Amino acid sequence: GVVTPSTPPETTTTDSYAFAFDIDGVLIRGGKPIPEAVEAMKVLNGQNEYGIKVPYIFLTNGGGKTEQERCVDLSRQLELEISPGQFICGHTPMREMAQKYKTVLVVGGEGEKCRLVAEGYGFRDVVTPGDIMKDNDRTTPFRRLTDQETQNSRVRNFGETEIEAIFVFADSRHWGDDQQIIIDLLTSKNGRLGTSSENYDEGPPIYFSHNDLIWSAAHEHTRLGMGALRSSLEAIYKSITGKDLVSTAFGKPQLGTFQFATRLLQQWRKDTHGINKPPETVYFVGDTPESDIRGTNEFNESKLSENDWYSILVRTGVFKEGTKPRYTPRITVNNVLDAVNHGIKREM
Ligand code: G3P
Ligand code: MG
Repeated sequence: GVVTPSTPPETTTTDSYAFAFDIDGVLIRGGKPIPEAVEAMKVLNGQNEYGIKVPYIFLTNGGGKTEQERCVDLSRQLELEISPGQFICGHTPMREMAQKYKTVLVVGGEGEKCRLVAEGYGFRDVVTPGDIMKDNDRTTPFRRLTDQETQNSRVRNFGETEIEAIFVFADSRHWGDDQQIIIDLLTSKNGRLGTSSENYDEGPPIYFSHNDLIWSAAHEHTRLGMGALRSSLEAIYKSITGKDLVSTAFGKPQLGTFQFATRLLQQWRKDTHGINKPPETVYFVGDTPESDIRGTNEFNESKLSENDWYSILVRTGVFKEGTKPRYTPRITVNNVLDAVNHGIKREM
């Protein structure tokens, strides 16, 4: 028989539009790719009937590892190369606060990973809850550090340490103990452990890398996220002090995060595709109305955005059919592959 070698069709990269993707509930669930995700990436990379390639970035509220490490994971899961130059996670913008404070408490994540992330961002003196528990094991009445945790934790004199700010980088693995330590600091005099403020107006500021109340993990129902930790901390703080806790959250739906994404996308399109102008449209694919759709729509309607940010909601994560999303997307589709096909078709 005749063997016809299949040559890949010629592809061109479009300069008029781009995609941005949420990760959990859109591309990944519980550490595994959502079935249509791998195909969706192939379509964006030119395997479509038009032979067109579309630049894209990732914008997740998740975190807990360096951007580099997250990209290695994502590359393996989605079977293609993803670079930190096209990746923003919840704590990425915290990088810009590294010079503002000297000693900071970093909460959340696995083992020592978030301390290393913070140090990589240039934070000069990073304390973890483990350091505090190692110094005083009466801090948490019902938990002792494991040998590994004791080994990782650093020794210091907290009587002479002023913690200037608290950063929740990733989901806490020990809510009760982390909340105890955070409350100790919020009610202290100038972030000095062991002191307590009379009017509760001397504690350090607290920052969260995002505010997702729920998110989409391996379980069939959504799981509690960092926003839930924040809400419960606010409630505890109010009961103890009678005052409202003032805190700041990064991530989606904050408009600053979308501005950050705009800059990253511009740089990415320039560096890897040689495109020197902003895209007319950015398709944002997300599963959480309160973060993804709200952020995309509000950014689009604000004066901060120079392009059309077009929100696409998928049904593979937080949002479920049969309910009305609190923030209305431009379109709702079943999954990320449908989202990619919708955007490409709309542009033809
Ligand atoms: O903890 C991560 C989660 O809240 C959301 O991640 O990728 O859906 O923004 P993502
Ligand atoms: Mg999501």
